Amino acid sequence: MNFKTLSLISAVALALPTLGMADPDDDTLVINEEIEMVTKTAAPAHLADAVDEVMSGWHFRSDETQAMQADDFDNPGMMFVEQGVEIWNAVDGSEGKSCASCHGSPEAMAGVRPVYPKWNEAAGEVRTLQMQVNDCRENRMGAKPWKTDKGGSIPMEALLASVSRGLPVNVAIDGPAQATWEMGKELYYTRTGQLELSCANCHEDNYGNMIRADHLSQGQINGFPTYRLKNAKLNGVHSRFKGCVRDTRAETFSPGSPEFVALELYVASRGNGLSVEGPSVRN
Ligand code: HEC
Ligand code: HEC
Repeated sequence: MNFKTLSLISAVALALPTLGMADPDDDTLVINEEIEMVTKTAAPAHLADAVDEVMSGWHFRSDETQAMQADDFDNPGMMFVEQGVEIWNAVDGSEGKSCASCHGSPEAMAGVRPVYPKWNEAAGEVRTLQMQVNDCRENRMGAKPWKTDKGGSIPMEALLASVSRGLPVNVAIDGPAQATWEMGKELYYTRTGQLELSCANCHEDNYGNMIRADHLSQGQINGFPTYRLKNAKLNGVHSRFKGCVRDTRAETFSPGSPEFVALELYVASRGNGLSVEGPSVRN
């Protein structure tokens, strides 16, 4: 551990007491005794200077919490997937269409979750999966868009993640997506708030350490949406970002803001190669 890391740890320790070490475990995750998950893998090239290996947040949770995710009957997040299926089949909006009218079964969406956020050529923007779904709602169904992480957004995202479970996250960071990715990267490394902490101070420099009673992970998003035992609901990526920024006692960006879209692309790219796990279970 170098001096810089040490001083960061003491900065964190001063603000947030009881920091200790606890390595992520070496357990393996197989869902329903069927889908084998890649929960640790070599870091993508763009991270080579920062970390050797990327790891799912699953490794940092207790055995009990881990077990809940290994079986769909025990995973409370799966209730929202069922809700997502109902929404998928429900007609909504002025055009009298459901998602199913155009896309068939949800399984037709296998492989879509892993590549979002993604550049949309016609719109000239990087879109999160929730933005893309809203585009279909507004412009193809004549239905009202859902708010970020609210309404149907989370059950739908959970459904779209569930049909891609086990596939590797693979977001593109070059070409037209690069500027957005750079913006997200800058946000990730910028210290904010009274505590002057960046995402990297906790999730890159200190993963594996304990912060209060919490085992710090790499802050990956391959498991989203995530069922948290703490608030007993499925949580979206932007809501999680908001909570983490607030913990540094900083003013935060809003869910759905261009800043959080960029940060989502960047954080997703830090997990390129990890399996899609959503809906996952965390504390
Ligand atoms: C009237 C037909 C229509 C309806 C209804 C519709 N979509 Fe789409 N959807 C499309 C078309 C066409 C595209 C591809 C065009 C594009 O990329 O903009 C698309 C693209 C998508 C994509 C991106 C796929 C990819 O490979 O990147 C997702 C996700 C999606 N739709 C989800 C939904 C969901 C969820 C609903 C229901 C809330 C829905 N769509 C309703 C026509 C529809
Ligand atoms: C003060 C330390 C701290 C900072 C700074 C921080 N986080 Fe976190 N974050 C945590 C803790 C503690 C948790 C819960 C335990 C865990 O999964 O690491 C967490 C969880 C997460 C998770 C959920 C991981 C999972 O597998 O469910 C994500 C994603 C995340 N953080 C992203 C971020 C991002 C992006 C930033 C910067 C905007 C950030 N965090 C800043 C402490 C921090």
